[in-house]
Amino acid sequence: MDQAANLRSIVSKKQTTGLPKINARVIAVTSGKGGVGKTNFTVNLALWLARQQQRVVIIDADFGLANIEVLLNIWPKFSFADVITGKKTIPDVLTEAPYGIKLLSGGTGFRDLANVTDRQMASVLNSFGYLDEISDIILIDTGAGISKSVTNFVKAAGEAVIITTPEPTSISDSYTLIKTIYEPGSYYPEMKIVLNKVDNEKEGVAVYERLRSVTEKFLSLTPKYLGSIVFDNDLVKDVKSQKPVLLNHPNSHYSKSIDSMGRKILDPDAAYLPERTGILAFMRRILRS
Ligand SMILES: Nc1ncnc2c1ncn2[C@@H]1O[C@H](COP(=O)(O)OP(=O)(O)OP(=O)(O)O)[C@@H](O)[C@H]1O
Ligand SMILES: [Mg+2]
Repeated sequence: MDQAANLRSIVSKKQTTGLPKINARVIAVTSGKGGVGKTNFTVNLALWLARQQQRVVIIDADFGLANIEVLLNIWPKFSFADVITGKKTIPDVLTEAPYGIKLLSGGTGFRDLANVTDRQMASVLNSFGYLDEISDIILIDTGAGISKSVTNFVKAAGEAVIITTPEPTSISDSYTLIKTIYEPGSYYPEMKIVLNKVDNEKEGVAVYERLRSVTEKFLSLTPKYLGSIVFDNDLVKDVKSQKPVLLNHPNSHYSKSIDSMGRKILDPDAAYLPERTGILAFMRRILRS
């Protein structure tokens, strides 16, 4: 058996043993262009979900940049990289954030995954299964763009939230990203679009419609509309003072938009496919890529 086949067998064994349990939804937050608002969206959505009694884990998968840490003003001592080296297990490297949210800092861990031995991988995966047990929703803050190190995550997730601003470059980069993620006839995540830094909801919907008409025409794909967020100075101020806007300005436009999108995410009628859930299914897809 080659190494990849070996690893796949480890994951599938892990999935079929033990008691049946509800797996976590794995939602990657991503964008074609950088600086469009992924990290702020991830943190505030996580807080909103946690306040709805959802058990939330945030994975900071943006290599090198400690954005989530800065926003939440928490400083993890260890990262996923320490799990790869075998020094720590997943429970050891989770950091407590407000409302019981747990933060897993990726560090260089996901990059290092490419070079581990089968034995290391088996213990990493064993350890990763723990996340399904302790969470309902896992939010992954990814880097921007269409490099493989980013799209591997996004393609493997159950759902992908693609953040776009009304700038033409952001819209065209989103289209390129969607084209990269979409694999007709194969697995791809459910895609949802968020319009950020718009003047008003009407502008957000119009930009979504433009993006949708292009994906429908060239890819025969209709990504969902999750919502729009206006440019909000309350958020700008709160970022400077390292206070999440949802907590510091609960009545701001930003917080109200998060509320409306959070409701859509938890809407029991908006059924998502069970094969799209679970951290181990996510890891299996990462290993395949
Ligand atoms: N709705 C908004 N209104 C005003 N400013 C915003 C809004 N959303 C995000 N910003 C600002 O945009 C900047 C980038 O936000 P953020 O760090 O969340 O983006 P990002 O996509 O994670 O960036 P990167 O690609 O560098 O990781 C921040 O300075 C933030 O304050
Ligand atoms: Mg970021």
